[in-house]
Amino acid sequence: MTPAAGPVSGRLPEFPWDQLATYAETARAHPDGVVDLSVGTPVDPTPDVVRRALEAASDAPGYPLTHGTPELREAVVAWFARRGATGVQPAAVLPTIGSKELVAWLPTLLGLGRGDVVVHPEVAYPTYDVGARLAGATPVPADGLTSLGPKPVRLVWLNSPANPTGRVLPVEHLRKVVDWARERGAVVASDECYAELGWGEWAEAGAPSILDPRVCGGSHDNLLAVCSLSKRSNLAGYRAAFVAGDPALVAELVEVRRHAGMIVPAPVQAAMIAALGDEAHVRVQHARYGARREVLRAAFEEAGWRVDGSEGGLYLWVTRGEDCWDSLAALAELGILAAPGAFYGAAGRRHLRVALTATDERVAAAARRMSSQGA
Ligand SMILES: Cc1ncc(COP(=O)(O)O)c(C=O)c1O
Repeated sequence: MTPAAGPVSGRLPEFPWDQLATYAETARAHPDGVVDLSVGTPVDPTPDVVRRALEAASDAPGYPLTHGTPELREAVVAWFARRGATGVQPAAVLPTIGSKELVAWLPTLLGLGRGDVVVHPEVAYPTYDVGARLAGATPVPADGLTSLGPKPVRLVWLNSPANPTGRVLPVEHLRKVVDWARERGAVVASDECYAELGWGEWAEAGAPSILDPRVCGGSHDNLLAVCSLSKRSNLAGYRAAFVAGDPALVAELVEVRRHAGMIVPAPVQAAMIAALGDEAHVRVQHARYGARREVLRAAFEEAGWRVDGSEGGLYLWVTRGEDCWDSLAALAELGILAAPGAFYGAAGRRHLRVALTATDERVAAAARRMSSQGA
């Protein structure tokens, strides 16, 4: 086999964040400082219970288990069960080095390549597209599966609650996708990294998992749930996530990752057990984001913007009915930085994504600026 011609980076899109530079410069010039709502990176402290577990496990001279410790895998099973996703087998759980690396490498790890189709939402986290391209497969943005016709599809990505739209997929929707994919032998990978960050009707129970028996009929065949502790536990810096579901698929992932050295460090595995076992910090964090969300939502709506979707996750998906770059420029004049919807697909070009991941003080500053000057 001859290697594909050209550098791998040549298959990838331009890194979009560089396009924000001039808007960031304008926003940073605000006399009261920038309010950066452009990225979803947590800003609140990592919970003490998690930091203590990391410290206690810091003597780690030997190699960690690629498959994760049995204690970690049991903790993940218990966490899924609390979310209504019963029947996850401990052997069918695998820790990952954050979920972004799994999203980016899953098509490759599953052996996809040239001619294979990877479907992802039309307005989506860009790494689904990147992962397909890294494997040499074909990314196809599509929300309605019927529009795909008879194309042979190998992998379908779902994301609920979604980045950037905040849309939550109910049980019936998830079930239809699972049925469709099983009929065609496709794998469904459900990115559930915002699972516990639901609002309104989703606030109590969180968003449904693809591994919930109401969705999958009790069988996890063809299904993978991709989950992360980055957002619910302020752990993005630890790179702590996991994938679970179909025992045969997870066994295959373990096997390949063992050869490739894709291993979560032992102290991080210990910290993950502590994070998964503690619900108190999750409730505190949920309340923090809920309060920031209300402040920002009111500020945008009072200034004449419309908030769409945004039923879950860490973003408001807002529009003034104009091109996103014009909206971005207007906010930058107020010293507020958001992410243009165009980063997430052509269908997002009239929206901005506003992250809830800023301190209470910065969120209040954004609201004040919008109400005093209009945006
Ligand atoms: C939809 C989605 N999936 C995955 C990730 C990656 O999260 P992490 O790698 O921190 O687990 C993000 C991060 O923002 C995201 O928005």
